[in-house]
Amino acid sequence: MDPWSPASWRSKPIEQTPVYADRAALADVERQLAGFPPLVFAGEARELKTMLGKVAKGEAFLLQGGDCAESFAEHSADNIRDFFRVFLQMSVVATFAAALPVVKVGRIAGQFAKPRSAPMEKIGDLELPSYRGDIINDIAFDAAAREPAPGRQLDAYRQSAATLNLIRAFASGGYANLENAHGWMLGFVKDSPQSARYQELADRITETLGFMRAIGLDPESHPELRKTDFYTSHEALLLGYEEALTRVDSTTGEPYATSGHMIWIGDRTRQPDHAHIEYARGVKNPIGLKCGPSLAPDELLKLIDILNPANEPGRLTLICRFGAEKAAAHLPGLIRAVEREGCSIVWSCDPMHGNTVKAASGFKTRPFDKIMSEIRTFFAVHQAEGSYAGGVHLEMTGKNVTECIGGARAISEADLHDRYHTYCDPRLNAEQAIEVAFLVAELLKAERIGRSAAAAAE
Ligand code: PEP
Ligand code: CO
Repeated sequence: MDPWSPASWRSKPIEQTPVYADRAALADVERQLAGFPPLVFAGEARELKTMLGKVAKGEAFLLQGGDCAESFAEHSADNIRDFFRVFLQMSVVATFAAALPVVKVGRIAGQFAKPRSAPMEKIGDLELPSYRGDIINDIAFDAAAREPAPGRQLDAYRQSAATLNLIRAFASGGYANLENAHGWMLGFVKDSPQSARYQELADRITETLGFMRAIGLDPESHPELRKTDFYTSHEALLLGYEEALTRVDSTTGEPYATSGHMIWIGDRTRQPDHAHIEYARGVKNPIGLKCGPSLAPDELLKLIDILNPANEPGRLTLICRFGAEKAAAHLPGLIRAVEREGCSIVWSCDPMHGNTVKAASGFKTRPFDKIMSEIRTFFAVHQAEGSYAGGVHLEMTGKNVTECIGGARAISEADLHDRYHTYCDPRLNAEQAIEVAFLVAELLKAERIGRSAAAAAE
């Protein structure tokens, strides 16, 4: 293989890349970004890799989620806080059931660039370039707005920095203190069917903390009770931006993407000899790889070989997104190939991207029961194969949106227009996200009980 550099992707074929009319302006933006401070630090990315290594061994669980696409317009402290708090709730639900650490990774603070199924969008007689995410162009359907504008990368960088700053404060400044577990409940979720289940769990946490305090384990002396580790991730799609934020870590001399802790490669850009895989193979961060129905087992092994030649635990997360009906047919082949070769892998389930449908009204949506069904299938297949269902990857928000149909409140196709706010794919609202967390919790608990029964029988 040719030597890698942060720019070596430039000599490879590339999919899903915007064409900038003003090359000089683009080069100027990339030069500016290259001089800006890193958003995350190599040591943090290594820490996440260590945690994901535990997931690969079945000793922790990965919870990854957030917007399909972050937007400039919806950048607010409230949105970040509401997302963070639902994510914390989901995480305690899963931790309690699994009795395992939950590794928390947001699709946030950098999730701006979108691959699209068609390069052009047509409305009536007008045909314009597709929206590719706020880091590239504007969602408004007019010719000037859809033109890729390099300066948007600077705005995306600054927004990521501000988002990360608030998240770091929430994660370590007391908001994530387990003693606040009751307070994380969002107003509009309070009277929902999930609320009672969550309150019951929060009561048990409070009781446990009371017991722990009585024996001398309190949040004042044990920071892990009042802090949490939270990491960022996004699809590394816009490679000029990623290249500009690639930095050599001074302690190890190794290159890291400093745009986020974990980056992933999308299902449309994972060709082994193309630009996106080339970029990802050289940086030392944890890497995600989306696996859709078109990925054959031998192709997957080739990609694993390129992305994780040293078979380092925690380096590679396979994010499976087949669709509820296809998962049972596609997943076993991939698992068997990986097991046969002895690859260390984090298996995660993205139950969103294979279950997108168009409602009669024209809205893109996802039926909640299909999402639940793909998660169940994912766990069942892993159980049958003797491998570990290590995580879930969700598109979700802390807001009370109406984008996915179904769930405990039975959002219908007719409700979609009510609060359909996504910039790209339909997300779970806070209530639906918690409902998913309870399903995952049940499945994790069953797995844990199954494991200890098996151990006892040995
Ligand atoms: C996404 O995660 O938003 C996405 C585009 O996914 P995929 O590459 O799996 O289609
Ligand atoms: Co999406």
